[in-house]
Amino acid sequence: MSKLSLDRILQSQGFGTRKYCRSLIEDGEVSIAGVVHDNYKASLDTEGLVLHIFDEEWAVREHLYIALNKPANYECSRKPSHHPGVLTLLPEQFTWREVQPVGRLDHDTTGMLLMSDDGPFIHAQSSPKRHVPKVYQATTQDPVTPELVAQLLAGVQLHDEPAPLAALVCEQRGEHRLEIVLEQGKYHQVKRMLAAAGNHCSALHRSAIGQLTLESLGLQEGEWCYLSPEQLALLAPA
Ligand code: URA
Repeated sequence: MSKLSLDRILQSQGFGTRKYCRSLIEDGEVSIAGVVHDNYKASLDTEGLVLHIFDEEWAVREHLYIALNKPANYECSRKPSHHPGVLTLLPEQFTWREVQPVGRLDHDTTGMLLMSDDGPFIHAQSSPKRHVPKVYQATTQDPVTPELVAQLLAGVQLHDEPAPLAALVCEQRGEHRLEIVLEQGKYHQVKRMLAAAGNHCSALHRSAIGQLTLESLGLQEGEWCYLSPEQLALLAPA
């Protein structure tokens, strides 16, 4: 970002139409460092700019990079059909900015979901060529056996896939618990792999993407945070 008029800055941050942003500014709702700025034409440097809008602090960001601890019963789709969408867990300004999930989790899957409004970032992260390991904690209906672990590591054939898909890592974590690390992000992949290996996934949680763990972010279910450049660097391929 660089120098922009105040109304354009507000619009870029998702505060609504230019007309509405101008009215907010003219109504004296926008201040910077304790000084009300009511001239929407004022040209400001956006680098490190912090606004106060309706008395709330708003650090201007060119793009949004967010991690959400997704609860169950939320859909990743922009047009959810049976459950509320994950966007309802974020400030409404993010919807204006067209924030989208980076890849999807099923409505009943919990855990780490990345979201952004940066198209090239979303595209790069979701590319099948980018082998970023995703770590899942799966609860199985039937007890975990050494044969199940061996099968998932050797690869299982899924319908519509040209070749068997294997887990990068698969470790038993309890009688009905598995940690599975996958490099691909195929539709319902964990659930379909478990089904193909003769078991059933009764609950699924994503605990990490690359080297970035949900635990390190300290998010409760339904909470989100901005990701720093250092945290984004942990999303690199294996
Ligand atoms: N695999 C699944 O089956 N579901 C998810 O939500 C993610 C990975």
